[in-house]
Amino acid sequence: MLRRKAGDIEGLAEFLREGKLKDNRSDPIGGGAFGVVYESDTPGNVMKQGVDGGFDNDFVEEANLQSVAADMGFAPRVAGIERFAGGIGDRLEMEDVRGNFEPVPSIQGLYPADPMFNVRSAQQLGQLALKGVRLDDRKADNMMRNKMTGRPMQLDFGIASRVTAEDQVMALADATEDGFRAAGIGDVGDIFRDTVYDLINGGQVAEAMDVAKQGFSRLQKIKQPAGKFVSAKTILAEQALAEFT
Ligand SMILES: Nc1ncnc2c1ncn2[C@@H]1O[C@H](COP(=O)(O)OP(=O)(O)OP(=O)(O)O)[C@@H](O)[C@H]1O
Ligand SMILES: [Mg+2]
Repeated sequence: MLRRKAGDIEGLAEFLREGKLKDNRSDPIGGGAFGVVYESDTPGNVMKQGVDGGFDNDFVEEANLQSVAADMGFAPRVAGIERFAGGIGDRLEMEDVRGNFEPVPSIQGLYPADPMFNVRSAQQLGQLALKGVRLDDRKADNMMRNKMTGRPMQLDFGIASRVTAEDQVMALADATEDGFRAAGIGDVGDIFRDTVYDLINGGQVAEAMDVAKQGFSRLQKIKQPAGKFVSAKTILAEQALAEFT
């Protein structure tokens, strides 16, 4: 009679799982120079894994930063991290968001084409900055878009960091400036950014944060790009017309 120890059965399960993941990895969902994303053996999840010989991804830090955004509802929930000797083959497992989210149309495969998508993304990055996280590398393929509402979902926290003091102010100011530009009021963005950076350079970090927060709260109110706003000129023209009628 064939008898197996518990350890053997665990070993077999592990072997089968690794085989399944290897199969899935050979048919990836996405990824490029540094990483590959493929379906997990757990349905509804995906795995992100560093490419062999690529950058040394620190998935612990990446997962921590992503979790801050996931808690605010605009990054995939992290399911776990698996680490291996020497960091080779480390994996970050997270929620597969393809059910509700789709790729973002971009200009020349780089930045998202829809201005309002960029405004909403900047609003999210500002919220992250207020939580002490700076998220960079916002190319279209590092984001997805809700199929129903167009709401951005932020992917790829590989180029992100914890920020405090003036670095946090700059993260908030940069996101806000980008948002103003996307909204079609880049001139306001320039003045705003110069003001914040001047205060930082003068050592007035608290005042700089105050201005940055005021600018960001203005950005938070934008619901559509400036092209669709009623301009002051239009209002004056309407008032002038009203006097004739
Ligand atoms: N949680 C997810 N659910 C569904 N698809 C995802 C998810 N995360 C990533 N993807 C897909 O995988 C692609 C690559 O993801 P990500 O940018 O995080 O990997 P990467 O390792 O940084 O690749 P690269 O360095 O080339 O940008 C995304 O563009 C997206 O299509
Ligand atoms: Mg990426």
